[in-house]
Formats: sequence, structure tokens, C-alpha cells
Amino acid sequence: MEKLKELYRGKAKSVYETNDPDHYIMLFRDDTSAFDGKKIEQLERKGRTNCHFNYFIMKKLEEAGIPVHVEELISDTECVVKKLEMVPVECVVRNVSAGSICRRLGVQEGLDLNPPTFEFFLKNDELHDPMVNDSHIISFKWGTQEQIDKMRSLSYKINEILKDLFDKAGLILVDYKLEFGLYHGELILGDEFSPDGCRLWDKETRKKLDKDRFRQGLGGVIEAYEEVARRIGCPL
Ligand code: TMP
Ligand code: ASP
Repeated sequence: MEKLKELYRGKAKSVYETNDPDHYIMLFRDDTSAFDGKKIEQLERKGRTNCHFNYFIMKKLEEAGIPVHVEELISDTECVVKKLEMVPVECVVRNVSAGSICRRLGVQEGLDLNPPTFEFFLKNDELHDPMVNDSHIISFKWGTQEQIDKMRSLSYKINEILKDLFDKAGLILVDYKLEFGLYHGELILGDEFSPDGCRLWDKETRKKLDKDRFRQGLGGVIEAYEEVARRIGCPL
């Protein structure tokens, strides 16, 4: 497969057109961003770490029956993905309170959420990803009721698979963000799953091992990502 021009440059990844009309190449860069792109730094080995991490998780999800866009790892920082038409919302599942839910609802960090919460956010940095609900998605034609139902049910199914995978590695899956897209009309999981888009705490010490280390200036960001990868058996 031939890599052609960069079609889309996000904050941490780039998407390249290829000579195959059904596939893109997704490149993980070392750029690390937080607060809607206000804080950006280059962290050595991050592109490589997240590319391997994402490939490992996506293949685990695929084995468990989740339709995913990732197909093949072609270098330490690149993989072949299905060409999706993205639904412009982010799906967030929370097992434990942290981050924006604490600010928005005035609740303390670390509360067990049972059942886990599910929220939609509009993918728009300028508006700081505002929370939206089913009726906004339908009225503004970002997605159909059927797609909403599928995003919700797949997000919860993914929670069961990943909570268990991380639990076996001594980690709590606190929360995470997913993005879905359409491939020839079928809704499938897109974007990435890595410590950039989820919260993971050590089960015993509750040490943060995710992008909150970058957001909060705690240091040891990549070392934490690498530790998570090692614990779940993901080769880097
Ligand atoms: P939040 O606490 O900021 O709402 O984020 C919840 C989880 O979703 C957290 O693990 C970070 C992830 N997330 C992103 O990666 N990107 C985003 O734009 C948003 C809104 C959340
Ligand atoms: N992904 C968003 C950003 O880079 C939000 C975050 O992770 O804090 O700005």
C-alpha cells in the first residue's frame, strides 16, 4: 500500500490517504496535547508507545467481537485503518468519578459509579467539547437513533472487556473516550484507545498512569504508559 498525502492532522495523530480507496494510514506523532490544544509538548517515544498500545487493544476488542477500524501495524508509529466517515461525537464511559464530571457536578474524585455513566460530547475544541444528548445528535443530524443506540451498547460492551483486561493487570479503568464512524454504512470503532484518552489508576496505590500525569504536570508520563503496556502484556 502506498502512503499518499496527509489528509487530516489532529493534535496527536495524522491520517494519510493511500492508493486504496477503502483504507487510510494513521500515524501516531509524539505531540501531546491537553486542555483543547492549549498545552502541547513533544514527548519522546509517545507516538510509538500509543501506536503499539492502540493496536494491541483494538485487536483484543476485535477478538471479543467488536467491529474496529484498525487492520495492520506497518511500522512502530503507523497502522492501516478502514476509511471511516466519523460521527462527530465522543462517547465517554465512567466507572469512577474523575475529571470533568467532578467539576460539572461538584462530586469528589474516586466515587464508584454503578452502573457506569455514559455521556456524549460534541467533538469541537473551540467550544471545549460541550456535552450533548441524543436529541441534539438527532436534530442536528450528527447521527441517527440507531447509531446512538449502537454507540451506547458497544461502549458498554467495550467497558466489560477492558475493565477485566486492566483489572487482571492490577489497574482500574476509571474512564475513557471512544469515537465511532461509518464504514460502508456500518458503525464501527475508530480513532484510538491509549492512555491519552482514558484514565487508569493502580489498584493498590491509586497512582495515576495516564494523560492526567501530563495535564497535571506530574512527570513520568511515557514511563507510566510503558508500565501499563508492560502490565497488560502489550509489546512495545
Ligand atoms: P473528561 O473527564 O475530561 O470529561 O474526560 C473523560 C475521559 O475521556 C478521560 O479519560 C479523557 C477522555 N477524553 C479525551 O481523551 N478527549 C476528549 O476530548 C474528552 C472530552 C475526553
Ligand atoms: N484531547 C483533548 C486535548 O488535547 C482534551 C484532553 O485530553 O485534555 O486538548
